Amino acid sequence: MSPNKKGIRLILISLLLLVNLASCATQEAGHDTDFTALESTDPLSVSPTTKRERIMINLPAPDLEGSMTLEAALAKRRSIRSFQDKNLTDHQISQLMWSAQGITHPSGFRTAPSAGALYPLELYAATQDGLFHYQPHEHSLMKVFDHDPRPELYRAALQQDSVLEAPMVIAITAVFARTEQRYGAARTPLYVHLEAGHAAQNILLQAVALDLGAVPIGAFYDDQVKDVLELSQDQTPLYLIPVGYPK
Ligand SMILES: Cc1cc2nc3c(=O)[nH]c(=O)nc-3n(C[C@H](O)[C@H](O)[C@H](O)COP(=O)(O)O)c2cc1C
Repeated sequence: MSPNKKGIRLILISLLLLVNLASCATQEAGHDTDFTALESTDPLSVSPTTKRERIMINLPAPDLEGSMTLEAALAKRRSIRSFQDKNLTDHQISQLMWSAQGITHPSGFRTAPSAGALYPLELYAATQDGLFHYQPHEHSLMKVFDHDPRPELYRAALQQDSVLEAPMVIAITAVFARTEQRYGAARTPLYVHLEAGHAAQNILLQAVALDLGAVPIGAFYDDQVKDVLELSQDQTPLYLIPVGYPK
């Protein structure tokens, strides 16, 4: 090889090394821009605090067409804090869970976007019949326990009446570690909080489209909500959303 060709080859190798190093550095800084990869995140891998028998309740398939336009739902949405004493139907519960985290693609993509499709969010439904954990892949609810958690949730949420009155309180929690393993500690809180906002807004609009009302609640004691819902250590509660028939 001529000295000229040798020089060019050396420069090319150095350039390749530099590009490689730069890509590693961005990844470590949490700025990986590949948001499309879908990694398997089995929601059941959220370890329950105690081992229980799994009671699964299949939900009816969600409707993909409703009677209200998106524009009408947007115009009508208001925070509703007072509810009739009337339980929600399985169909309404199905629709609300699906709106937040339902699977809408054969590859596992969901109604709400997720950074890197890592899906850090978990959904719970608190009703008079107990606490239920949504399983997106099966579109079903797994019973967590039998007692009504709403009175305790009400106390954990600074005694806001909406939590006590609503026939169902949806809790959105997150396993930050799922996102952090890819995007690092610096970006993860932002990404996970943005995702909770996406999921919550879907629930709020779906509630309106079902002629129901809802309110997003951020004022609560995290530790108390964790205790009441018997969340595993790796989960953080982010939102409570009471839903019901407006008074
Ligand atoms: C992050 C966040 C936290 C909130 N926390 C509470 C809450 O703890 N209790 C409550 O009644 N409303 C809560 N809200 C609802 C706001 O009070 C409500 O969105 C605001 O008054 C505007 O009214 P609108 O939702 O009817 O448009 C919260 C809203 C957001 C976005």
